[in-house]
Amino acid sequence: KFEKIWLVFGMASLVLFLLIIGFAAFWKGTHPQSHIETIDPQNVEAHEAFKPENLGLREVADGKYTVNIVASAFNYDFGTDADGKAVKKIRVPKGSTVLFQITTKDVVHGFQVAGTNVNMMVEPGHVSRLETVMKNTGEFTVVCNEYCGVGHHQMFATVEVY
Ligand code: CUA
Repeated sequence: KFEKIWLVFGMASLVLFLLIIGFAAFWKGTHPQSHIETIDPQNVEAHEAFKPENLGLREVADGKYTVNIVASAFNYDFGTDADGKAVKKIRVPKGSTVLFQITTKDVVHGFQVAGTNVNMMVEPGHVSRLETVMKNTGEFTVVCNEYCGVGHHQMFATVEVY
């Protein structure tokens, strides 16, 4: 009698568990809105946003910015500064609306601005977009949260809100 109860309980738990996994996988795989646009990962420069001269931060209107980034193992390309050095930090005023647009040339990367609601999966062949309002001042670290290889932990940058 007891065995039967446990058996039913065990089966029910298993079914529930599989449903949760299935739902999570489906949800993660679907990613509504964030990357509808496709792009050739071998030639990201063909896309206006990812031409070398368009990378990094630009002000598109008063208080509105876009940040274009190309991820690759193991780097975030925000373009170069006036001295030709790779940009690793972007600065925006508090209250700015910032649209992050990012793609990857190789494998799946993550793009998370720790301490904000910016958290995207970046997949080859897709453009990931997320617009947010920078409400708090501070220095926020950009990290890759998808394991992408030996240099995974070296992928970082900084967003400063002043
Ligand atoms: Cu890129 Cu982990």
